[in-house]
Amino acid sequence: MRLQNKTAIVTGAAQGFGLGIAETFAREGARVALLDLNGGAAAAAADKVGHGAIALGCDVSNGIEVDRAVGEAIRQLGHVDILVNNAGTSHRNKPMLDVTEEEFDRVFAVNVKSIYLMAKALVPHMRERGGGVILNIGSTAGIRPRPGLAWYNASKGAVNLVSKSMAVELAPDRIRVNALAPVAGETPLLATFMGEDTPEKRAAFRATIPWGRLSTPQDIANAALFLCSDEAEMITGAVLTVDGGRCI
Ligand SMILES: NC(=O)c1ccc[n+]([C@@H]2O[C@H](COP(=O)([O-])OP(=O)(O)OC[C@H]3O[C@@H](n4cnc5c(N)ncnc54)[C@H](O)[C@@H]3O)[C@@H](O)[C@H]2O)c1
Repeated sequence: MRLQNKTAIVTGAAQGFGLGIAETFAREGARVALLDLNGGAAAAAADKVGHGAIALGCDVSNGIEVDRAVGEAIRQLGHVDILVNNAGTSHRNKPMLDVTEEEFDRVFAVNVKSIYLMAKALVPHMRERGGGVILNIGSTAGIRPRPGLAWYNASKGAVNLVSKSMAVELAPDRIRVNALAPVAGETPLLATFMGEDTPEKRAAFRATIPWGRLSTPQDIANAALFLCSDEAEMITGAVLTVDGGRCI
């Protein structure tokens, strides 16, 4: 078991990549707190994840809710070793000027501001404990952007970069910070990226991936498991593409 006796917070864990990460971490011995905007779905997911997993309803773009949820996670789990900032959202695929100011603000609040809020809430705890691991879910969108997703791409560029900034600043505290950059994946968010979920759109997306398929929650969870385990003790500031060659 590669996460024996570890505890983890995974945000956006009610479905998609976050649920895959939570399930894999629990299978490898971790106790997991699943944070999600949808508290009911998070509770059902925590039951499925098992191994003492807990669910906490939380909007990760809201500082008060983040402080409350992180405090509750520390109280219930005893301590937190690992944070996975996975919760994310996008505007629908459309021309850049058609994205409303409200949509723009939401994308940056959920994808970028949440990392700042979670760090404010949890880094002091990790410092006190002498270390920790943070994994941010960025995207290939921040490396090799697709048309129609301009502001989402920009937010993921920020996620990829802030992971390196955090890694440098937090290394003296023995806190490792890495990012994953998944390619388009089999989750409910995919339709938003494609604009519409049709066999033709899926085939067009697949055609841009040399390995010939979309990513799955298990692909992302396998990479997350490695980066959050002690096996990756010397790895910090990495942005690991999980993309079947899309960014080459
Ligand atoms: N699916 C893809 O193609 C893909 C590709 C690259 C990167 N990503 C990134 O992976 C991460 C997970 O995406 P997914 O595809 O699993 O998405 P998803 O929409 O399937 O799941 C996201 C989860 O996050 C939760 N969430 C949304 N806003 C929240 C908020 N403000 N506070 C708390 N929880 C919130 C949702 O309720 C949902 O349970 C995101 O950061 C996304 O940008 C996805």
